[in-house]
Amino acid sequence: MHIIKVCQAGSCRRNFAEDSLKRAEKVLQIKAGENTPDGQFRLETCGCLSNCDDGPNVFIQSQGSPLMNIMGNGTIENHMRPDALEAKIKALQTPSNS
Ligand code: FES
Repeated sequence: MHIIKVCQAGSCRRNFAEDSLKRAEKVLQIKAGENTPDGQFRLETCGCLSNCDDGPNVFIQSQGSPLMNIMGNGTIENHMRPDALEAKIKALQTPSNS
């Protein structure tokens, strides 16, 4: 599973983080706080990731165990405006076998 956390704190919001969140919701067809039906993604919002100058920022945790995810295993992706975040999500998507 990929857990995508879109910062919604002040600096990122001024850099269109709300638009990025809406794009992620559209691409994944879920709302923040939900998992995709196939279990590939979970979308969340989060507070400041302490990287405000390079926002909007998104924290992505991938393939970790729940414990590893709680411990913060993941990467911060910078400049995740809507098009960039959509491209990142699509790069993470695994094609279905259907
Ligand atoms: S406001 Fe988003 S990283 Fe600080």
